[in-house]
Amino acid sequence: MKKFIVANWKMIPLRAEAKALVEQLTSKVLAATNLPQIVICPPYPYLTFVQEMFSGAPIALGAQDCSSHEEGAFTGEVSVTMLKECGCQYVIIGHSERRHYHQESEEILRQKVEQALKQDLTVIFCVGESKLQRENEETYAVIKRQLEALPEKISHAPLVIAYEPVWAIGTGLTASFDDIKNAHDFIKGCMKKIGQETPVLYGGSVTGENAQEILSLDNVDGVLVGRASLNMESFWKICVA
Ligand code: 13P
Repeated sequence: MKKFIVANWKMIPLRAEAKALVEQLTSKVLAATNLPQIVICPPYPYLTFVQEMFSGAPIALGAQDCSSHEEGAFTGEVSVTMLKECGCQYVIIGHSERRHYHQESEEILRQKVEQALKQDLTVIFCVGESKLQRENEETYAVIKRQLEALPEKISHAPLVIAYEPVWAIGTGLTASFDDIKNAHDFIKGCMKKIGQETPVLYGGSVTGENAQEILSLDNVDGVLVGRASLNMESFWKICVA
């Protein structure tokens, strides 16, 4: 199976930067062969033009979040149907920044996943422990609880799990290879119990320098990249790692 290289642009690039990034990426992708599955997740207002700029290059579009509702009077929310209309095939759900800054509960996340799966968007579901939880040796209990928020009966759903230890996001600290391997084994084991063979990505300070080693670990099926996805030199290094 192809590895996934997912770029989470967060709320960082403005239009001109976003345009320049896609322009560079598209020309590199069109000239390359044997690439992983590249997924770009821009902010909502840029979804449509980013999709148009792919110009047929094999790059997929993803959103950074979606509403837990199907449609209606929910000011400021964006539904899964709208994301599909913009050309999204993927949606990130449960990123630690959403859990933390927007107090997204497990129940809300379950509803978001249900909405996305109903419309066949591939869900990139993020899990991972905080620094304090890690120090208290609660990593696996936290991951298990976060995975339990997934709806029941999701067998064979288009689902990818991203293990992003919160303390490694944007800090320059990456989890050790052993930590990554163990967490990914644990996640794969939990998913198997509910009949899912789920790819597991690692996220947290992935760079052009460390990507190759991380991606060469057996049970790492890809990476979810924040900062380094906003520099095409670094991001391309990750894509070809
Ligand atoms: P960084 O790569 O900037 O640490 O961010 C990781 C992340 O949050 C991706 O979703």
